Amino acid sequence: MPRTLSAILYRSESLVPPNGAEERDMLVKAALRNARLGITGLLHREADVYYQWIEGPADNLDSLYEDILADPRHRDVELLLRSPIAQRQFDGWSMGRTDRDCTLLFDWATQHDVSMRAMRPEDFLSFLNDCSFSVLRQDAPANPAG
Ligand SMILES: Cc1cc2nc3c(=O)[nH]c(=O)nc-3n(C[C@H](O)[C@H](O)[C@H](O)COP(=O)(O)O)c2cc1C
Repeated sequence: MPRTLSAILYRSESLVPPNGAEERDMLVKAALRNARLGITGLLHREADVYYQWIEGPADNLDSLYEDILADPRHRDVELLLRSPIAQRQFDGWSMGRTDRDCTLLFDWATQHDVSMRAMRPEDFLSFLNDCSFSVLRQDAPANPAG
C-alpha cells in the first residue's frame, strides 16, 4: 500500500536572528534530514515570524512536526493546516526558503484583501506561488551521509 502523503503548515515566532549561524545550520540539517525522510517543503521568514510548509509521508511528517514543536529556536507554534494531499507542492525541494527580496506577506495580504489573522493555507500557497521567483532551493547533497 502506498503511504499517505500529508502536508503541514504552521506559523511560529522565531527566537534566533535572521540569517544567523543558528538559522543557517538549522536549514542545512533540515535539508539533510528531510531528504532522508522523503519530506519536502519551504520556510518563509518575515521579521520574527516563520511560516513553514512541509509535506511527505504522514508518519514521517508527524514525527518531524513533534521535533519542530519542541525546538527552542522558536515558540508559539500555531498549526494552520494538517491534511492529506494528492500531490506535493515542492517536489524535489528538501527545504526551500524565501529570501529577503520576496514580497512581504503583509503587503501581499493587503493587496489581495486577505486578513493576516485569518490566512488560509490556500492563501499562503498563493503567496508563495507569487513570490517563487525569489525562493532559494536548499538541496541536500546527492548522497547525504547517515
Ligand atoms: C522553524 C523551524 C523549522 C524547522 N524545519 C525543519 C525541517 O524541515 N526538517 C528538519 O529535519 N528539522 C527542522 N527543524 C529542526 C527540528 O526542530 C529539529 O531540530 C531537527 O529535526 C533535529 O531534531 P533533534 O534535534 O531532535 O535531533 C526546524 C526547526 C525550526 C525552528
